[in-house]
Amino acid sequence: MSWLVTGGSGMLGSDLVACLEARGERVAAPGHAELDLLEADAVAAFVDRHRPDFVVNCAAWTAVDAAEQHEAEALAINGTAVTALAAACERTGARLIQISTDYVLDGLGDGPQPEDAPTGPINAYGRTKLAGERAALATTRGWIVRTAWLYGANGPSFPRTILRLAAERETLDVVDDQIGQPTWTVDVAERIVALAATDAPKGIYHATGSGRTSWYGLAQEIFTLQGWDPARVRPTTSAAFPRPARRPANSRLGHAHWSAIGLPPLRHWREALHSAWPELVRAWS
Ligand SMILES: NC(=O)c1ccc[n+]([C@@H]2O[C@H](COP(=O)([O-])OP(=O)(O)OC[C@H]3O[C@@H](n4cnc5c(N)ncnc54)[C@H](OP(=O)(O)O)[C@@H]3O)[C@@H](O)[C@H]2O)c1
Repeated sequence: MSWLVTGGSGMLGSDLVACLEARGERVAAPGHAELDLLEADAVAAFVDRHRPDFVVNCAAWTAVDAAEQHEAEALAINGTAVTALAAACERTGARLIQISTDYVLDGLGDGPQPEDAPTGPINAYGRTKLAGERAALATTRGWIVRTAWLYGANGPSFPRTILRLAAERETLDVVDDQIGQPTWTVDVAERIVALAATDAPKGIYHATGSGRTSWYGLAQEIFTLQGWDPARVRPTTSAAFPRPARRPANSRLGHAHWSAIGLPPLRHWREALHSAWPELVRAWS
């Protein structure tokens, strides 16, 4: 099979490219400078030339706070560019896999939010990503893979920040009133490959770790993994850390659609973190 991965040098994209190459798949992963998704004609020409079976759109405006002041620019890449990419896929028969986020949902309640939960983003980034979902779902066979609380070797992430701050401070105050499912980029990459091997219908799939925790709980787990005293991490509230963009209190996603296509939910977030940890610490040091 042949693949086009946009955003292939980003945190998720780089692990997806590695995962595909390790399986001997044919992968085109043009960098931002080589293929700017804002240039619709260039995108159409690239897809026409390479004729991929699958297009995975990992490219995005991911600066959540900056999107509040720059929503039009964020929409251009997270929404309008996806419309152009989707049109190229539709014309050539490529199957589009659009990476999305729990931020398209309102994050109310504390249960897992199902794939068909009504959307209701509470910040600009979420609104722009929702536009991208709509563009992908307008294609005949588009798949949305929503993820959340991602960490990986090749990008900034919460675990990486915690490691840095722990070296600088004796105690860390970490918010305990936002819950979610930490998710390793490698698990998402492998799940994208597994999804592509199915004839699953067009729709939304939630690629997040199983279980739940808060940012505080995740920070404590990281301290434990490092052999540090987890009591150095202290719980606090989101109100103590005001940021330009509101964050959903509940980022948990339900996983029912996987079983409908014969795949299990992603493994428990703690198991994934423990597997990833040696590789991550090596990559970040
Ligand atoms: N990180 C998370 O916690 C998280 C959570 C939920 C969902 N997601 C979603 O997961 C996906 C991957 O996220 P990530 O964290 O891996 O993002 P990332 O590391 O920020 O990577 C995004 C990539 O998009 C590229 N890009 C941006 N604008 C572009 C353009 N106009 N043309 C071509 N490429 C462009 C960037 O290239 P340059 O850097 O060279 O500009 C970068 O390689 C995104 O859809 C994101 O919304 C992420």
